[in-house]
Amino acid sequence: MYWLGLDVGTGGSRALLVDGKGRVRYSFIAPHSDMQMLKPLWAEQDPDDWWRAGQIAIQGVLREAQATGSDVRGIGLTGQMHGLVILNQAGEVIRPALIWCDQRSQRQVDFINAELGVERVLHSTANPVLTGFTLPKLLWVRDNEPQLFSSIRHLLLPKDYLRYKLTGELATDVSDASGTALFDVAKRHWSEEMTSRLGLRRDILPECFESSDITGNVSSDAAALTGLAEGTPVVAGAGDQAASAIGNGIVQAGLLSCTIGTSGVVFAYLQEPAYDPAGRVHTFCHAIPGAWHVMAVTQGAGLSLQWFRNRLANDCEYDDLTAEATLAPAGSHGLFWLPYLMGERTPHLDARARGAWIGLTAKHRRADLVRAILEGVCFSQKDGLEIIAALGARPNQVRLSGGGAKSAFWHQLFADIFNQPVVTLETQEGSAYGAALLALVGTGEYETAAELCGQALQVVNEKAPQPERSSFYDARYRIYQSLYPALKPAFQAIAEVDG
Ligand code: XUL
Repeated sequence: MYWLGLDVGTGGSRALLVDGKGRVRYSFIAPHSDMQMLKPLWAEQDPDDWWRAGQIAIQGVLREAQATGSDVRGIGLTGQMHGLVILNQAGEVIRPALIWCDQRSQRQVDFINAELGVERVLHSTANPVLTGFTLPKLLWVRDNEPQLFSSIRHLLLPKDYLRYKLTGELATDVSDASGTALFDVAKRHWSEEMTSRLGLRRDILPECFESSDITGNVSSDAAALTGLAEGTPVVAGAGDQAASAIGNGIVQAGLLSCTIGTSGVVFAYLQEPAYDPAGRVHTFCHAIPGAWHVMAVTQGAGLSLQWFRNRLANDCEYDDLTAEATLAPAGSHGLFWLPYLMGERTPHLDARARGAWIGLTAKHRRADLVRAILEGVCFSQKDGLEIIAALGARPNQVRLSGGGAKSAFWHQLFADIFNQPVVTLETQEGSAYGAALLALVGTGEYETAAELCGQALQVVNEKAPQPERSSFYDARYRIYQSLYPALKPAFQAIAEVDG
C-alpha cells in the first residue's frame, strides 16, 4: 500500500509514493512550462499546465511503482504558496495565475495599508500585507482587469486547483491560507474584516481545513485521467514550506529548517503565534493542529544559481558550478552577491530591491562569481535566522533541505556562515514527502505527524561550523548587511525609471 504526495512546484509537479512506514518508494517529476514574465518582476503560470504536469507525474509514479490506483490509500497535496488562481461560475480558469514571486502589486499593498492601517492588517492576519501575497494580486486584477474581476466566482491557491481537478471540491488548508493576507492566522479561519473592509465577496474563498483533514475523494473523471482509483481520499495538505517542514521533522519547538529551492526559507516551529514587530518574517499556521510557524524568505535563493547557470553558464550541471566555486577563496576576493533577483522579503520587505554583485574587480573570475552567489544566499538566510532567533526560536540544530542541500560544499558554507551545526536527513524529498506524510496521518495510520516523523526520519550528515571560518564570515556578514541600506535609494530610483 502507498500514500501519494503531489507537489505543484514552480519548475514542475512532483508525485511521490511512501509506504506505510513513511519511507519514500518512488517519485516522478513532470516539468512545467516556463513562467511568463511579461515585465520585470511579473510572474505568471497557467494552472492548466500544472494540472497537465500533475497528471503526468501521477501516471509516471504509478508506472514506476508498477502499481494501480487501488494501491494508493490516500493523497496529500502541497505546492507553491500565495498564487492567485481565479475561476468563473463554470469553474474555468479566467486568467493565468499571478504566482508567489510576482511583485506587481505595490500600489495595491499601499492601498490596503491606507484603507485599513498597517496595525489593523497585522492584527487581523498576523502579518503585514506583501506584494507576493494573494490579496494584493486580487486587487491588482480588480484595478487593471475589471471585466475579468467581475467574473470571478472562486479563488484558489495553486495546489487547491489540482484538488479541484482531482475531487471537484473547492478547499484549502490553514497553512496555505495563511499566505493570502485574507486569513486570521491566530484564530485559524478566514478574516471577516479583510474581505468586508475591502468590499470583497467572502464566498469566493474556499472552505478551509486543518492539513491532515480529508477534504474529498478522487472523482471518476480524475480517476480516468490519472490512473488513481475513484474515491481515494485527498487530505487538505499544506503550503510547500509547511509540508517541507513536516518532511524535515519540524514538528516540535527547538527545531528549525533551512530549505533552498527557488526561494530559500528558514522555518521554525511555534507553539503559539509570535510576531516580529517589523513584520520581516511570516507568522503562519503550521500543518499541525494547534501549532504555528515563523518563516523567513529569501526570494531568489536557488533562483540565484539557476539564473547564473541559465544566463551565464550555458545551462551547465549544478555540480560543475558548485565544484567551480571551490576554486575561489572564502569571501570570493571581496565580492558580495545580493540575491534580490525578485525583490526581497526577509529582512527588507522591498519589491524594488535588485540583485547585484558588489566589489567586482578585473581580477575576479567566474569561480568567484559563483562562490559569491553561494555565500550571498547563506548571508541572506542568516538574516532570517537572526530575526527568528530574536523571537525566541533559537535552534540547537538547523536541518538543511532542498536542492541546496545536495552540495556538500554549500552545506559546509551554511554551517560556517550560520555558526551552527547544520544537518541533512536521510530522506531529502521536500514538500511532496511532507504531503505524503500528511496523507498517512489523515487516513488514520498515525495519530500525529510528530509520531510519524519520530519513526520515519533520520539525521545522516552533520556539518559543524569551523570556528575560524565562522569568525571570518561574521566580519563579511557585517559588510553584507551594510550593502542593502546603501543601495536602497538607487533601487528606488531604478524602479522609477524602469517600473
Ligand atoms: C513561501 C513562498 C515560497 C513559494 C514557492 O512563502 O513564497 O515557498 O511557495 O516555493
